[in-house]
Amino acid sequence: MKRRRGQSVVLAAALGALACAFAAGVAAGGSWDERVFASHLDFDALAAAGPSALPALIERGRALFKAKFTTADGAGRPKATQAIIPTKRKTGVNLPFSRLSGPDSNSCFGCHNDPIEGGSGDNVANVFVSEGFESAQFDNTDSSFSSERHTISLTGAGLVELLAREMTADLQAIRADAVARAYATAADARADLVSKGVRFGSLVAHPDGTVDLDSVEGVDADLIVRPFSRKGVFASLRQFTINALNAHHGMEAVERFGVRWTGSHDFAESGVPDARPCRRRRRRPICRTTGARRRKKARSNSRPSAAARATSRGCR
Ligand code: HEC
Repeated sequence: MKRRRGQSVVLAAALGALACAFAAGVAAGGSWDERVFASHLDFDALAAAGPSALPALIERGRALFKAKFTTADGAGRPKATQAIIPTKRKTGVNLPFSRLSGPDSNSCFGCHNDPIEGGSGDNVANVFVSEGFESAQFDNTDSSFSSERHTISLTGAGLVELLAREMTADLQAIRADAVARAYATAADARADLVSKGVRFGSLVAHPDGTVDLDSVEGVDADLIVRPFSRKGVFASLRQFTINALNAHHGMEAVERFGVRWTGSHDFAESGVPDARPCRRRRRRPICRTTGARRRKKARSNSRPSAAARATSRGCR
C-alpha cells in the first residue's frame, strides 16, 4: 500500500503538470466548445484524499493523456520555441504544426499508444530532439540539428521515478555520513557510492566540509539519479511532462512559463492566458481569475514565503 500511495503521488504530480498547462474555462462550455476541459482540474485536492483517490486519479490521467488539445485550450506556441527554458522565437511565427521542431501532435496518446495508452509508438511518430535542447527551428533531419528518437514506453515509469528517488536518498546519505566522519575525525573520509547494488564510484570528504567528487561515476555531482529520457537527464515525470507539453503541443505549464518566471500570462502568445492560479486558503483550494489587478499584485508580492508556498503546490 505504501508503494501504491507513493506511486499515486508521482502520478498526481505529473498529471498536475498536465492539468496546470491549460486554461481554465470561465464557464462550462456548450456542445460546440472545443476545449478539452471546460474548467480547471485540481489534482492536488483530489490526491489529498490519499490512496482511495487512486482510481479517480488514473481515470483523469487517462483522459488528459488522450485529450487532443485545441487552440481554444491554448495549444500552439506561435512566439515560443520548444526549448525547455522559456525562450522566445527571435523572428517570425511558428507554424501550428511542424513534424520536425514541433508542435507535432495534439495529444500524448498520439505517440505513446502502442500497445496501450502510455506505451511506445510507431516509427512514424518518432521525435526529432534538437541538439542540446536548443531553441533552433529546423526543417531538415540532418543530425547536426536533431536526433531522431523512438517513443519510449511510459508503463511503470512512476515506479522508476520512486526507485530513482530512493537511490538519490541513499547516495546523499552516504555523502552526509562521509562529511560527518571527516569532521569528527579531522581526517579525509572516503566512501563508496552504492545503492541497491549499483555502484556510482566513490567520493572523499575533507575535514573542512568540501567533497572531492572526481571519482563519482554515472551520476551528476549533486548525486541526483535522473532516470528519464534517452540520456537520463530528467529527474521526474513532472519535469519531463512540462517539456513534452511545450515541445509537442505548445501547452505551457504555468509553473515554468507563467508570470512568475516570464512576466507573461501568455508567454507563447497563443492568445489563451494561463490557467488561473490555484491557491489554498483555509484548507479549500480557490482558483482566482487572472486579471490586471491580480497581475499587479503578483508582481509586487515579493515575499519569499508566498513564493515558496506556491512552488510547493505545483499548481500556479
Ligand atoms: C511526437 C511524439 C510524442 C508525443 C506527442 C509525446 N511523446 Fe513522450 N516521448 C516521445 C519520445 C520520442 C520520447 C523519447 C525522447 C528522448 O529520449 O529524448 C518520449 C519520452 C517521454 C518520457 C520519458 C520516458 C523515459 O522513460 O525516459 C516521458 C515521461 C514522456 N515522453 C511523456 C509524454 C507526455 C506526458 C506527453 C504529452 C504531454 C508526451 N510524452 C507526448 C514521443 C512523444
